Amino acid sequence: MSQEFAIKRVTAPDIAKRKGGAPIVGLTAYHAHTARIIDPHVDFLLVGDSLGMVMHGYETTVPVPLDLMIMHAQAVVRGSSRALVVVDMPFGSYEENPSIAFRNAARVLKETGCGAIKLEGGAHMAETIRYLTERGIPVMSHIGMTPQAINTIGSFKPRGRFRSEWAAFEADARAIAEAGAFAVVIEALAELLAARITKQIPIPTIGIGASAECDGQILVLEDMLGLSPRVPKFVKEYAQIGDGIEAAVKAFAGEVRTRAFPSAEYTYPMCDEAPEVTKKTKMTGS
Ligand code: KIV
Repeated sequence: MSQEFAIKRVTAPDIAKRKGGAPIVGLTAYHAHTARIIDPHVDFLLVGDSLGMVMHGYETTVPVPLDLMIMHAQAVVRGSSRALVVVDMPFGSYEENPSIAFRNAARVLKETGCGAIKLEGGAHMAETIRYLTERGIPVMSHIGMTPQAINTIGSFKPRGRFRSEWAAFEADARAIAEAGAFAVVIEALAELLAARITKQIPIPTIGIGASAECDGQILVLEDMLGLSPRVPKFVKEYAQIGDGIEAAVKAFAGEVRTRAFPSAEYTYPMCDEAPEVTKKTKMTGS
C-alpha cells in the first residue's frame, strides 16, 4: 500500500487536541467529486444541512430529511480519504430526546462511515450531547445563529451584538463543552463575543461569521466559490474566473492558517459600542 493511501483519517479527538493550536480548516462538501478536491486541503469536511438550500433549492434547512443527509454523506465519505467527515443531524432528527438522537446519529455513523455528527443548540442540548458522546458518537455543536431555528428566531441576522445577549451565549458554550462536545461551530456572532467564548471554553471553536480568533474557520463551499446567488456578509469569495476549485480552496485554507481570514469586513461588530472600543477592548474573561 502506498504512503498516500496509508494516511489515516483525521478523527474527532485529533480536532479536539487542536484547541489553541494551528487554525483548523473546514469546508462543506455534499458530493464525491468536490470532496475529493477539497480533502487534501482541509481538516474536516462538513456534510451540512445547508445542502437543502444549495443542492435542492429549499428556502431553509428545516425540510431536509435524514435519508437525504445519509445519501450525501455516503458520497462524501466515498470521495475522501483523509479529512474527518462530520454530518449534520437535520431538524427533527435529534431534538425530541436523547435516545431518538442516539438512534438517528448511530444510523448516520453506521450507514455513512463518517467520524462525527453535528447538531444545533446550546445548553438545552447538553443532555443529548452527553448521552451521545458517552455512547461513542462524537458531537460537534453549533451555536450563535442556528439556521434550523429560523421559524422561532425569525431571521438569519447575526447575534450577540448587544452585551445584554452575551450571558446566554456564554452559558451555551460552557454547557456544551462540559457535556463533551469535541468542537463547536459559532455562526454569525459578534466578533468580540466569539473571541471571548474561544478564550473561555476548552474545546475548539470553528467560526463562520464569527472571529479570526476562533480555533478554526468554515465556509459553505458554493458560497466561497461564488456560486450562490446571495451570500451573508461573512462570506469571502475566493474563486476568480479561470481559477479552479482547488485554487480557491488552497487560498481559503492558507488564509485561515495565517488568520488573514476573516478580516474585520467579514465579521460583525457590536451595535451598542463605538467601533474603536469594540476593537481595542482587552478580553478580561469577566
Ligand atoms: O449546514 C451547514 O453548512 C453548516 C455550516 C454553515 C456551518 O452548518
